[in-house]
Amino acid sequence: MKLKAILLAGLLCLSGIIHAADNPVIKIETATTSLIFRVGDNGRLYQSYLGKRLHNEADIRHLPQGTEGYLTHGLEDYYEPALHIVHNDGNPSTLLKYTSHSSQKLTDGATETVITLNDDQYPITVKLHYVAYPAENIIKTFSEISHKEKKPVSLQKYASSMLHLNRNKYFLTEFCGDWSHEANVTERELAYGKKVIDTKLGARANMFVSPFFQVSLDNPSEENAGEVLVGTLGWTGNFRFTFEVDHQNHLRVISGINPYASEYSLPANEVFRTPDFYFTYSLDGKGQASRNFHDWARRYQVKAGDETRMTLLNNWEATYFDFNEDKLVALIGEAKHLGVDMFLLDDGWFANKYPRSSDHQGLGDWTETADKLPNGIGKLTAEAKKQGVKFGIWIEPEMVNPKSELYEKHKDWVIRFPNREEYYFRNQLVLDLSNPAVQDHVFGVVDQLMTKYPDIAFFKWDCNSPITNIYSTYLKGKQTHLYIDYVRGLYKVLERVKAKYPNLPMMLCAGGGGRSDFEALKYFTEFWPSDNTDPIERLFIQWGFSQVFPSKTLCAHVTTWNKKTSVKFRTDVAMMCKLGFDIKMDDLTNDEQTYCRQAVQEYNRLKPVILEGDLYRLVSPYEGEREHTSSMYISKDKSNAVVFAFDIHPRYGERLLPVRLQGLEANRMYKVKEINLMPGAWPSLGGDDQVYSGEYLMTVGLGLFTGQDLSSRIIEVSAQ
Ligand code: DGJ
Repeated sequence: MKLKAILLAGLLCLSGIIHAADNPVIKIETATTSLIFRVGDNGRLYQSYLGKRLHNEADIRHLPQGTEGYLTHGLEDYYEPALHIVHNDGNPSTLLKYTSHSSQKLTDGATETVITLNDDQYPITVKLHYVAYPAENIIKTFSEISHKEKKPVSLQKYASSMLHLNRNKYFLTEFCGDWSHEANVTERELAYGKKVIDTKLGARANMFVSPFFQVSLDNPSEENAGEVLVGTLGWTGNFRFTFEVDHQNHLRVISGINPYASEYSLPANEVFRTPDFYFTYSLDGKGQASRNFHDWARRYQVKAGDETRMTLLNNWEATYFDFNEDKLVALIGEAKHLGVDMFLLDDGWFANKYPRSSDHQGLGDWTETADKLPNGIGKLTAEAKKQGVKFGIWIEPEMVNPKSELYEKHKDWVIRFPNREEYYFRNQLVLDLSNPAVQDHVFGVVDQLMTKYPDIAFFKWDCNSPITNIYSTYLKGKQTHLYIDYVRGLYKVLERVKAKYPNLPMMLCAGGGGRSDFEALKYFTEFWPSDNTDPIERLFIQWGFSQVFPSKTLCAHVTTWNKKTSVKFRTDVAMMCKLGFDIKMDDLTNDEQTYCRQAVQEYNRLKPVILEGDLYRLVSPYEGEREHTSSMYISKDKSNAVVFAFDIHPRYGERLLPVRLQGLEANRMYKVKEINLMPGAWPSLGGDDQVYSGEYLMTVGLGLFTGQDLSSRIIEVSAQ
């Protein structure tokens, strides 16, 4: 009987004659969010609702039908579609009707809902996937497109997600910039028409704009209030977010791979799986949205997300290309002296015919330069072992300098036009990862190093060039597949690396923060947000990336950039994220060295709060005339917090307001103590070592700011 009913319902909905009351309703829910789809009388799928969770079942029938959930090209809607397919007969339209849906609990606590849609004229199937993470309030969505037409169909547009909002006003925050100037926060109101955020860099998502956004509803965004949709795409290549306000003031948000120059020819029975789009709908402003992403990323997404991170000393800014074995051995000793976990050898250790003495040559030839390292990497790993520090190494395996043996041998592996002058970005070219032979080569760079030197404990994987001269010898007639197949090829390699070396921590770098996306972070424990290590700039850059990425993924190094700032200021900024040093200890005074050593110890002690705790951004560096900023981390049990406060450029005679802390328990008593002081310095914070209630600290606050240019404070707050 039951089976009969199901079959009948199936038949009715296939024929498109189901009636409103029986129409399937599909709810995707987290603890605080509902995304509700409904099948219309015409059998098509509509998004009826996205917002604060609705608890009363009976209310659902009151919802308006809404707008088509995954809009296709060629029908009666005049706005940007999510899907555009050209069929074998040249017909460019697709009309999707609901076929079925199913939901299942995944072993990790999430629930996956799959909605299957079919075209009634062409054998096209689209499966919309929604994975809801209830506690973290994150929804991951992607689409699978397949068909059974005789010849390949042409995919022109293939979004990961389409979402609809219906509010009075929409304020979009984007995170744009440039090399060394990443993730600047800019907010603007959206009005009728389209705003597109996209990149076309090929081998990375970001240089000019990061692959995440915030849409605040009704009012400009606030840290702790208001409804805000925050989304990001897991794709280490060209992405596109389209925000379109239609004539009824509804907002449509389409997210996915940038289809620019990427028409994809899909053979029958093959599934085109889009990348994942992740979003959260916060009812309490951007701060809660960030905490949702941080919790989810640590628990579900980032490689070793639940593990701690290593502090390190990197030689890049200490030596650039100018080093030899003795210098490196001395630096390994400095790492030990500093008390960090690891020494990281950067660029410049490889190539012999064209030694890597500058960024003009050698990239691609991954054997140690005999002049510089006569005893190879083995000598360095042995030295590190002797000193009790781990050893990490830099590679840039997807790239090649034209002046290299690899280029001479394998021009066919290089993305370049066979008949045009080559254009370089940082004097290099990108290898063609759509080619399986190149995938083997890239995997081999890691594998050979690990096989020969099993004591290597960490990789910094760099990628300094976007794709220039976009042409693949391997893909022949399918050049429009290159942007997509490059990224897929990269993931194949990273999958192999992860499978063979599951416990190997790796830092992702792309000439700074070019690769900052959650799909890449499945394979990497952390990333380098910017080549700009000026601590003032870093306050802004870290503020930007912290909107979605947890602190343990953001590498922050103390360097010599901006010598106007003290070593304390620089270290305090870096301690907000994953702490490292990239500096010659010899260049520091004794007091500064002592300070750094103590800071490493303090950081190790506070890591559980800084890396695993909840982030509350208290005072934005963008506020006012950019005079001050403050953020804090608090442990999940609310017993320990670390507050960072920075005076950037205070104004003469400025009225300094207390900083109100957040996230504490109002009724609990907390001791406040200034830490990370320079040797001989005394706490200058009034009320240091005093006990306050959480209520006081959150309502009245502490006078953390000073009128002094470039001063910083770290305050430890401990429950009594
Ligand atoms: C760019 C990175 O961002 C730097 O940290 C450094 O590793 C250089 N590449 C090395 O070439």
